[in-house]
Amino acid sequence: METPAIQVNSLSKTFTKAKIKALDDVSFEVETGTVLGLLGPNGAGKTTIVRILTTILKPDSGSAKIFGLNLSSQANLIKRQFGLAGQYAAVDENLTGMENLVMISKLTHLQKRTIKNRCFQLLEQFDLIEAKDRPLKTYSGGMRRRLDLAASLVNTPPLLFLDEPTTGLDPQSRLMLWESIEKLVKEGTTVLLTTQYLEEADKLADQIVVINHGRLIANGTPSELKNQLGTSIVTLTFNDIQQTKSAFEIVTSDIKNKSVIEETSIKILTEDGPKTALQLLRLIDSSALVLTGLNISEPSLDDVFLSLTGLNNHE
Ligand SMILES: Nc1ncnc2c1ncn2[C@@H]1O[C@H](COP(=O)(O)OP(=O)(O)O)[C@@H](O)[C@H]1O
Ligand SMILES: [Mg+2]
Repeated sequence: METPAIQVNSLSKTFTKAKIKALDDVSFEVETGTVLGLLGPNGAGKTTIVRILTTILKPDSGSAKIFGLNLSSQANLIKRQFGLAGQYAAVDENLTGMENLVMISKLTHLQKRTIKNRCFQLLEQFDLIEAKDRPLKTYSGGMRRRLDLAASLVNTPPLLFLDEPTTGLDPQSRLMLWESIEKLVKEGTTVLLTTQYLEEADKLADQIVVINHGRLIANGTPSELKNQLGTSIVTLTFNDIQQTKSAFEIVTSDIKNKSVIEETSIKILTEDGPKTALQLLRLIDSSALVLTGLNISEPSLDDVFLSLTGLNNHE
């Protein structure tokens, strides 16, 4: 079997001064050539994992390997294996797109005669050729992220860390960035991508690791995660929040299924949608509550997240 691109073994990290356990015994693996989506809400510990794996931060305990190389003893070799890009672009405002890439290429000790070619190639790949001679301060948010992504790829690393690459981007820039990432993956780059967006993980990732409060709470393919929940979800909708709360009490006192309340809806996980729906209709019918909607559906990743963390991802 091929050596995994990333092996994470029981990583823990506490920020002592702040008394925050940012990571608690986290383990997972990423196969070479695949995309891992590291999914979790703000403050879950995603960046801490990325910082540890990119040798910026030392864990308190646990170990990790990148392409079989040991993080603690072979950091210098590891540094040549990855690129890092993210939410905060590591580029200079006053330089042009081309100048930024050239500067970074020099820092990464790319051979002089190959620099110009490589920069052109990247600007083309990320649809920035026309803007290449404009200072960065004239770029849109999406263009900056694309340049940042290009900058992380100057030395053609086999592994790429993307820390919330699309947070704060408008939908169209997000789509463009997704396409760029998909292209890279097709060409063989392994990607670890952190995100708060289920849709993004669902779209790009082969495997999803969900973390919350520093702990790994789920690990699997998008469809495995959806299947964990059972086969269907019954959603009951009411007119207002008060009615929904009353209905939630009635429902949860009667049936054992996992259920969550979401604004004026109640979602109930079940193996048998129609049977559970009937049971629920009888319950509601014998109360004074007025049902305004009933739906039976397959669980979405949003439902998975909700059931795992109790958090609404859109809050
Ligand atoms: N340098 C630091 N000092 C103190 N606390 C930190 C530091 N970096 C991160 N944290 C805390 O650790 C937790 C995880 O942070 P982080 O990994 O940045 O989360 P995420 O990237 O998922 O939003 C948060 O509670 C955050 O406030
Ligand atoms: Mg972060």
